[in-house]
Amino acid sequence: MATSIPHMLMEEIQPPLQTSGGKVTVVGVGQVGMACAFSLLTQHICSELALVDVVADKLRGEMMDLQHGLTFLRNVKIDASTDFSVTAGSRVCIVTAGARQREGESRLSLVQRNVDIFKGIIPNLVKHSPNCILLIVSNPVDVLTYVAWKLSGLPKHRVIGSGTNLDSARFRFHLSQKLNVAPASTHGWIVGEHGDSSVPVWSGVNVAGVRLRDLNPLVGTPEDPDKYNEMHKDVVNSAYEIIKLKGYTSWAIGLSVASLVSSILKNMRSCYAVSVSVQNYHGIDKDVFLSLPVVLGENGVTHIIKQTLTESEISQLKSSADTLWDVQAGIQF
Ligand code: NAI
Ligand code: 2OP
Repeated sequence: MATSIPHMLMEEIQPPLQTSGGKVTVVGVGQVGMACAFSLLTQHICSELALVDVVADKLRGEMMDLQHGLTFLRNVKIDASTDFSVTAGSRVCIVTAGARQREGESRLSLVQRNVDIFKGIIPNLVKHSPNCILLIVSNPVDVLTYVAWKLSGLPKHRVIGSGTNLDSARFRFHLSQKLNVAPASTHGWIVGEHGDSSVPVWSGVNVAGVRLRDLNPLVGTPEDPDKYNEMHKDVVNSAYEIIKLKGYTSWAIGLSVASLVSSILKNMRSCYAVSVSVQNYHGIDKDVFLSLPVVLGENGVTHIIKQTLTESEISQLKSSADTLWDVQAGIQF
């Protein structure tokens, strides 16, 4: 006779499934990794969450802290380990591990330190989840997305960088403040490199389909008396300012990543500016990853949107591609 409480409480009809098909891994449980994990949980995006880091105590502490919040959320299976076997069967693997900028430091200065870290992470993720989509967040995100693609052996459409989805969100926030319209109702895209040489596509900025360029042909240019172009400077300076103020950025990137994962897991086919292979787009001949608007679904990037860009925007994109190509040439794999 079964005497344990579960047996006395419940009659098993059939064993529960071991996995529910909505597993997400976060590598790196620092400020960014935990902001991603928290956003995924509180927005009910994943059904299983695996956390990986090299610092075992911190990892266990973060796992326990999240688990204790599950009473207020949905019943997500949260595991954590320094061993990558915990990630097996993930549909999306988010990589936030590595060094971050110190005050005043550029993202590109982090490259070789984080490439060395990626060498120990990416092959292990692919080994345990060969069908996953890799979502790279660590900086410099465009170069590291290229590195992750190289190290993974995955097709390019399954290796994505968080890219200028964050820069575009910052841009839309600034527009919303100027216009007193909600950020979600102000439409504008920032493409290219995440950070310093990002490109605002002023020709497309609109509210309810009304293009600001049609109202003021100078909008976004240095000649514009209303100085809308300052908004892009603010976007570029945002991370430097926040790092100076609080030491790191976390909440907005966490929300931005959760939104990308949601589109992938739910095959929503939403459009985002994310870092993808851009060779042969807009006349770029280098094998680099930069952000362009794409359609994201269950199998990763399905389409790249052919945005109409001005000559100046194209030339800025090409210049970023050249810079990143030079950085990539110096990487020791
Ligand atoms: P953090 O220092 O708080 O966390 C980094 C974590 O990585 C630490 O927990 C560390 O133990 C872990 N780690 C280091 N080596 C590891 C390895 N081999 N395997 C597993 N885990 C490892 O840094 P934070 O603030 O979380 O930033 C992480 C990265 O995200 C940085 O490169 C930062 O620049 C980048 N970032 C990117 C953004 C974007 O928009 N793409 C936005 C904000 C940050
Ligand atoms: C950000 O833009 C530092 O790349 C990071 O917040």
